[in-house]
Amino acid sequence: MKSSIQSYADFYEASLANPLAFWSQQAAKIAWYEFPTQILTTNEQGFYRWFEGGKLNTCYLAIDYHVENGRADQVALIYDSPVTHQIQKYTYRELQTQVAKLAGALHNLGVQKGDCVIIYMPMVPEAAFTMLACARLGAVHSVVFGGFAPHELAIRIDDTRPKVVVSSSCGIEFDRVVPYKPLLDEAIRQASFKPPHCLILQRPMTTASMETNRDVDFEEALQQASPTECAVLSALDPLYVLYTSGTTGKPKGIVRDNGGHAVAMKFSMEYVYDIAPGDVYWAASDLGWAVGHSYIVYAPLIQGCTTILFEGKPVRTPDAGTFWRIIAAHRVKVFFTAPTAFRAIKKEDPTAEHLQKYDLSSLKQIFVAGERCDPPTLEWLQQITKVPIIDHWWQTESGWPMIANMTGVEMFTVKAGSATKPVCGFDVQILDEEGHPLPPKHEGYVCIKLPLPPGCLPTLWNDDPRFQQSYLSKFPGYYLSGDGGYKDEDGYVYIMGRVDDVINVAGHRLSTGEMEEFVASHTAVAECAVVGIADELRGQRPVGFVVLKDKVEIEENTLETELVTIVREQIGAVAFFRNTLIVKRLPKTRSGKILRKVMRQIADGESYSIPSTIDDPAILSEIAEALQKRKIGRGFGH
Ligand code: COA
Ligand code: AMP
Repeated sequence: MKSSIQSYADFYEASLANPLAFWSQQAAKIAWYEFPTQILTTNEQGFYRWFEGGKLNTCYLAIDYHVENGRADQVALIYDSPVTHQIQKYTYRELQTQVAKLAGALHNLGVQKGDCVIIYMPMVPEAAFTMLACARLGAVHSVVFGGFAPHELAIRIDDTRPKVVVSSSCGIEFDRVVPYKPLLDEAIRQASFKPPHCLILQRPMTTASMETNRDVDFEEALQQASPTECAVLSALDPLYVLYTSGTTGKPKGIVRDNGGHAVAMKFSMEYVYDIAPGDVYWAASDLGWAVGHSYIVYAPLIQGCTTILFEGKPVRTPDAGTFWRIIAAHRVKVFFTAPTAFRAIKKEDPTAEHLQKYDLSSLKQIFVAGERCDPPTLEWLQQITKVPIIDHWWQTESGWPMIANMTGVEMFTVKAGSATKPVCGFDVQILDEEGHPLPPKHEGYVCIKLPLPPGCLPTLWNDDPRFQQSYLSKFPGYYLSGDGGYKDEDGYVYIMGRVDDVINVAGHRLSTGEMEEFVASHTAVAECAVVGIADELRGQRPVGFVVLKDKVEIEENTLETELVTIVREQIGAVAFFRNTLIVKRLPKTRSGKILRKVMRQIADGESYSIPSTIDDPAILSEIAEALQKRKIGRGFGH
């Protein structure tokens, strides 16, 4: 426990009892150009905003501040890429040189404060440099995960209208080279908005063809650029917009502002992860996700740590010992990834033979998030690594953990299946359908009493009404997380899964609603439901149930192949949409609502209660028969 802090209970209570004093004190720990004049305000829409009047630059905090304060020669970023057999290290000074020049290059392409820049790149250092270069200029970056198909990229291009799209000739998936540039060209063809420039990093594995006047070579642009200083920004200026799946085909643009974010990042490193300046911290995620933004780039750098950017997979790059090799080689103190990655390792190396080859003495804790950490995986991991395994809960919306074991304050006993207790600033409440707090052991909606602490989304990009309607309107005065869960008598919180049409496939957040839109676009389909069923490796995977149009005849496997292709081409291979079942009808309530939850429970072999409002209970047996016939779902042996 930190000597200045009495206990988690006191610290947490202080954060809720007097949030202004609490966050003002935390804000004083970062180097503002001008300290905020107001700690918490509400804007004309009634949305909370932190640190009005504050002036800062996130890139300055992440790089220049350390160069000026004794860390210039410390390694800031290690690029470890088993797929290209490279390890490169960048000190804070080298990072400053790269990022300042890249900011100059973006500026030469017309990027100014407030402009958007899309980053569609594999896990290469240039992707992180671009994020930081945008932050330096006050441009708003929007990273698009490399596994998304052109259609998804096109949606984001139209919504952000970027001045520049920064991309690369290719990514590498295990041993397969995935050309990115054709996907980018196709996305721009599909988008209504045409970005004036694309900045393309040519990798040696494949050379992208360049479009005259629009496409610019990354290295050449860098050579011609002069270093650029950090712009002075308002705390309320947006740092980035990151799209995440909602319940419809239109993703939500989560906005992150500069001031609240910087304070939250620093706070979380100290009090959640127990990481000090100079420590080595590694989040094995992708820059396309919130974890990558917060815990590969911003938080470790703001805290003056060494961060690792990993281009590879937990297995087969080259083997299930990759994680352990990196932890040993770079003396990682805290490691963070998704449970699915450990399930993949456990499958290939159940007795952890690879681990025996490495010295893991630097490792103090492992954090997992992105999905619930199933107790068998948690226990296996604890057994083989002998360090605390800490499940913690957060969302793209929050940008940092909302429920965790705050190991920098007080280490609680881990209870498998629970993400432990609410983090300071998050007043987590479990509400029933009417919005009343539920007693312990009763499952309900996981909500956060407003205001959310600094760092959480202030709104959605260009869409205040959707922010209000998606998160704030169901229970006035509360943020609706979209997850269900409960607390136990000790105040531990258990997150049990989404209560909406969002699923988590291998740590990737996806919308079944969006998949339904594509499945329904097939000419043979009258109506459909896509349901996330349990998957041993990926946590969940989507399965489509389809009702054919009258008089249409098509074999189930032909339809399945066609629908798999559509979803793969429109959303991306990451959706892992592999199965379609033709059924005569879908189970519905009398008012026509499809009973997706019951369908999932049948597939997963869970007990379920038949809703009193069901139109025709016999349909549930038909669903079970269809699953049984194809042996799909845990309830049917798979
Ligand atoms: N670019 C292009 N394609 C990608 C991609 C990317 N960045 N990421 C995934 N894909 C593709 C895969 O190649 C695969 O394609 P295929 O169907 O042609 O084989 C498909 O999307 C499905 O990918 P995935 O579900 O990830 O399966 P996998 O077998 O490739 O890998 C795991 C399985 C468990 C190793 C992998 O999902 C993993 O490492 N998960 C951890 C995720 C994570 O860290 N999430 C961050 C949250 S903290
Ligand atoms: P994302 O926005 O992609 O980070 O996904 C957020 C969602 O992932 C949450 O709403 C949860 O459904 C799920 N999730 C993240 N972390 C956890 C966790 N530790 N336990 C359970 N679910 C989690």
